Amino acid sequence: MARINDNYLKLKAGYLFPEIARRVNVFAAANPDAKIIRLGIGDVTEPLPQACRDAMIQAVQDMSDRNLFKGYGPEQGYAWLREKIAQQDFQARGCDIDASEIFISDGSKCDTGNILDIFGDDNIIAVTDPVYPVYVDTNVMAGHTGEANDKGEYEGFVYLPISAENNFTAQIPTEKVDLIYLCFPNNPTGSTATKEHLQAWVDYAKAHGSIIFFDAAYEAFITDPTLPHSIYEIEGARDCAIEFRSFSKNAGFTGTRCALTVVPKTLKGKASDGAEVELWKLWNRRQSTKFNGVSYIVQRGAEAVYSPEGQAQVKDLVGFYMENAQIIREKLTAANLAVYGGINAPYVWVKTPHGLSSWEFFDKLLETVNVVGTPGSGFGAAGEGYFRISAFNSRKNVEEAMQRITDKFTV
Ligand code: MLT
Repeated sequence: MARINDNYLKLKAGYLFPEIARRVNVFAAANPDAKIIRLGIGDVTEPLPQACRDAMIQAVQDMSDRNLFKGYGPEQGYAWLREKIAQQDFQARGCDIDASEIFISDGSKCDTGNILDIFGDDNIIAVTDPVYPVYVDTNVMAGHTGEANDKGEYEGFVYLPISAENNFTAQIPTEKVDLIYLCFPNNPTGSTATKEHLQAWVDYAKAHGSIIFFDAAYEAFITDPTLPHSIYEIEGARDCAIEFRSFSKNAGFTGTRCALTVVPKTLKGKASDGAEVELWKLWNRRQSTKFNGVSYIVQRGAEAVYSPEGQAQVKDLVGFYMENAQIIREKLTAANLAVYGGINAPYVWVKTPHGLSSWEFFDKLLETVNVVGTPGSGFGAAGEGYFRISAFNSRKNVEEAMQRITDKFTV
């Protein structure tokens, strides 16, 4: 019989969001009249910006024209998209990033996992706790950890707890780590990182030869003008950081699929013989071999994000979800719950009251007001006692969910 990858057996039974969906489905089957409102997974609900739709329709037309038809595209993405991203997302903010350092992909989730292909198996890896579960699970799958303990912490990771006690700021480790996952604005806590904080991380990474994986999927939701949108706004980051970005949340592409990964050509890693190797070359090789690019139609849609109309429409879309976040914050605060985040991020992080565990709170909310959120413990041991509410939903659903909590939710 063929052998399996035993590392998969170390994983918790289900990935967090399918597990939540499973529990909600069980509840829905037993309570067919319940009008369930889902504020769990951060999935967008509003239509794609008009500029993106128009560009995609035009791209479909192109595909009907023998002269404009496209077969395989460049594995790295079309130059016209990469150049706009380089100019508008990076150079306009003073970041020294060239279009050739941008790789278009079908998702940040995929790329934060795929990036491990170009790194060795014996790196010491640091993650915040709580954390986006993909960073952890992909390392478990790759055999970079031991078993999980009762709290779900895997042997071999360096966990950096973030909680109200340290203002949701990941402390710089005292020991040497090789790979560091940072996500700001943070999923799940909605917290942010100042330039000074990121500078401290970059200084640490440069001093220790570490690489930072910087997940900036939520950068469009930053409202505070002093906060950095990219790690490359920080001096020295070109020498120690890979950045992941996505069109999923700003332009509503969760179902359309388009993202990007930035690998500066100045980044180096060490081979087992001690030689220094350009990470860009490895990632380019990896993508050329394992990836055939994002569809032409979708890349044309993503390109439209950078047109003046696209920029205005994306701003409105982001503003809409941030108004939802504000409503959630206000109503939960009025219901005497301690809330964090939701100001520069589309997630509101709630302290569960009366010492309820995250899953107890999940059950209570589901059973009493039929509202679904995400238990903080699903993001890591230090997420226990917290709960995440996503602002990605229609206004009607957000208002209705908050009204039910205000009127009927008692613990
Ligand atoms: C989340 O809810 O944390 C996100 O939807 C996850 C993702 O973007 O993959």
